[in-house]
Amino acid sequence: MTEQREQWGSKIGFILAAAGSAIGLGNIWKFPYIVGQNGGAAFIIIYLICTAVIGLPVLIGEILIGRTTQRNPVGAFKQLSKTKFWAAVGSMGILAGFIILSYYAVVAGWALGYIFEAFTGNFFDFSEPTQAGDHFGLLTGNVYWIIGFFALFMILTMGVVFAGVQKGIERGSKVLMPILFLLLIILMIRGITLPGSEVGISFILKPDWSVVNAQTVLLALGQAFFTLSMGMGAMLTYGSYMSKKDSIPSSALQITVLDTSIALIAGIAIFTSVFATGLDPNAGPGLIFHTLPVVFTKMPGGFIFSIFFFILLTIAAITSAISLLEVITAYFVDERKWRRHKAVIIFGTIVFLIGIPSALSFNLMSDFHLFNLNFFDFMDFIASNILLPLGGLLMSIFIGYIWGMDKVLKELKFGAEKLFDRYPLLVKFWQVFIKYFAPVFIFLVLLQSTGILDTLISIFE
Ligand code: PHE
Repeated sequence: MTEQREQWGSKIGFILAAAGSAIGLGNIWKFPYIVGQNGGAAFIIIYLICTAVIGLPVLIGEILIGRTTQRNPVGAFKQLSKTKFWAAVGSMGILAGFIILSYYAVVAGWALGYIFEAFTGNFFDFSEPTQAGDHFGLLTGNVYWIIGFFALFMILTMGVVFAGVQKGIERGSKVLMPILFLLLIILMIRGITLPGSEVGISFILKPDWSVVNAQTVLLALGQAFFTLSMGMGAMLTYGSYMSKKDSIPSSALQITVLDTSIALIAGIAIFTSVFATGLDPNAGPGLIFHTLPVVFTKMPGGFIFSIFFFILLTIAAITSAISLLEVITAYFVDERKWRRHKAVIIFGTIVFLIGIPSALSFNLMSDFHLFNLNFFDFMDFIASNILLPLGGLLMSIFIGYIWGMDKVLKELKFGAEKLFDRYPLLVKFWQVFIKYFAPVFIFLVLLQSTGILDTLISIFE
């Protein structure tokens, strides 16, 4: 028996779910530390340009493929092209779903575990990030802790997707996203009102162009892809539950603006606190788990703010993780006629199994390396630096050259009639961006990635 394919209950439901997918560990964990290491405001300016020029146009295109076909990534390309090659592009997205979720949920498990740490006040004995860092090492070094919270996070994610598009994903996002916005605003106000926070503000607003080079630009573009959940069909799948009455350009713009503002607010909240407590902003990926616990120890009201922060981080991660599991689920429901419940249980479990080596990369398997990367970093590298940009490149080529521009524009116009009538020039711009800018720029990112790969291979040999 096939189940009736669902749709979002409302336009705001879609926007919150899609913003939930976009806003995640990429915004609150990755973005602040990349900014910290790459010239502060200089990086932010480049990242904003990448988001506007590449991110938004490709996001519109990806959602459009989904809404037109009302299918998962594989079904969508099959319906529009009839060739095996494009169906394979869709399959690549499903594969990316397995890979990203498998390691993403491991980090999300840390966030979940840190809610408990915050509650028990465990890291309140630390005055130095090295102590907090050692504590982090102790926790992630414990196989039971790391696998336990990873499993718990997967169960929560599966629970939401199990309940369906409207009752699970949409309802969950409508409850969780406002909480996330509220918590983040509270934390930003806390950060700004700390004595000495100006140094943090000027760090994030004062561009340091001396550290910017070609690689910074490519890094910014990669971040734009990851943070907008683009290139693997998550936005395509969410778009497939959208009605033709709603405007894609306006939805995509709102998602992009929300995602970008959240990253900036997270940056302000984190750097004002870090500078006000006199800690090092350059801590890299450990910033949240090494530096922040100490920041909380030193700040008035830190106990409650630390709980808020890790709840916020977990919420951000879960609304992204459900979109990854939904890509896989939609494929098996649409193409293989599986029941949603069965697909969620089986593939949620498989994702968990694939993720175990990533979890073990921090303890038992820390000596295991592929191309000089541990298993966790290897999965991240394959997904973020190869599969997502490649997916985005192929999608923009598909829209610009394969689908047929007249058909593309006819579909895009549904729900966006006003935009087409009043601002035809914007529509023209979009065509130019998706046909020329996006493929060329993304191709450059990929070259960069393979360049890194070459170096890694040479090290490996
Ligand atoms: N956008 C999410 C984040 O910023 C990650 C993600 C990537 C989610 C790809 C879905 C698909 O954390």
